[in-house]
Amino acid sequence: MIGPKAIIHLDRLIHNYQLVKQKTGNKQIMAFVKANAYGHGAVPVAKALESVGADWFGVFTPGEAIELRKGGVSGNIMVFCRFQSEFLEKANEWDLILNISSEDDLNELITFHGEMNSSPRFHIKIDTGMTRLGLPIDSVSSFFNLLKKNSHLNYEGIYSHFATADEGDLNYANFQLEQFKGVLDTTGEMDLSFQHIHFSNSGSVLNLPESYFTMVRVGLLLYGAFPSNEVPKELPIKPVMEFKAPVVNLREVKKGTLVSYGGVWSAPQDTIIGVVQVGFADGFPRPWYGEGSVSLKGELYKIAGRVCMDQLTIDFFNANVQCGDEVLLFGENKTDSILVENIAESIGSTPYVLFTAIRGRTEHIFTGL
Ligand SMILES: Cc1ncc(COP(=O)(O)O)c(C=O)c1O
Repeated sequence: MIGPKAIIHLDRLIHNYQLVKQKTGNKQIMAFVKANAYGHGAVPVAKALESVGADWFGVFTPGEAIELRKGGVSGNIMVFCRFQSEFLEKANEWDLILNISSEDDLNELITFHGEMNSSPRFHIKIDTGMTRLGLPIDSVSSFFNLLKKNSHLNYEGIYSHFATADEGDLNYANFQLEQFKGVLDTTGEMDLSFQHIHFSNSGSVLNLPESYFTMVRVGLLLYGAFPSNEVPKELPIKPVMEFKAPVVNLREVKKGTLVSYGGVWSAPQDTIIGVVQVGFADGFPRPWYGEGSVSLKGELYKIAGRVCMDQLTIDFFNANVQCGDEVLLFGENKTDSILVENIAESIGSTPYVLFTAIRGRTEHIFTGL
């Protein structure tokens, strides 16, 4: 089909997974495959990881978890969104792990267990400074007293989440870590123990080994991108997604010709304007037109004018280009490379935003296994 393609190199995904495994000294890895595996395709990504032994997956909603189960994923799947009582039956039915972050949540579980004589597995979230979901530090004692009285419940994990682990200054991350260790001390004193203790994301996998505990939760590194420019970048990860699109039209224009919406770009000389069939509706980052380029046969060509919903225009002056050629938008292939991190940096965005935007008519093609 003519249009944008996301070629997903599953061999590179596995390479990245193995690097994280080595880096963390063989800790368990919860692969974050929420939001369609950050735009890469949740079921094929999770199954590729399962084929090399991964058995923990993080998603945001029960719907995402059920999609994995229906796709044949058999490992542990944890749902990270705010607990709701209607998740309880679904979690039992599909063997999902729930995120418990308040005493009210725990009371719902207690009631459910009373009625059904079983309840789903769950992990308890502690808010150590992200100030989003999680038990505030000052309410942990009361929560754990209630848990202690209901120790028949299927509590198996405790965790927290960093707000700044991908920043050069780790003061706040270390503060969060100390808060969490304090909570673990409290639970230890109460004789409550947890099989799974997790805190680390991609940033802290790179720069805070003390946060690994029994398991790390990793998304971005698996997809082959670094979360920021402030983390150490020695890990030789490879970009999993190769985002590309075809040239569908070429025409000669005279110097001064205005190109695309707003007429904000004019040809600096007589040149060839190519139309590439991809736009912001497919996930192409619209603000990238100012600085942006695409790559073809090892050469970069400037985006000429504003990116449209379905198409963009390129200044192909002097290029060896034909209709049907596919240009690289980001990622890496044999001749071309554009790092998603560089685009993100240039437009004041992040690889998380750019990856999860890949949808619409973009066709996903899975390769490398
Ligand atoms: C709770 C939680 N843990 C882990 C991750 C994985 O983060 P990263 O992709 O930076 O590894 C996320 C991602 O948003 C998250 O929300």
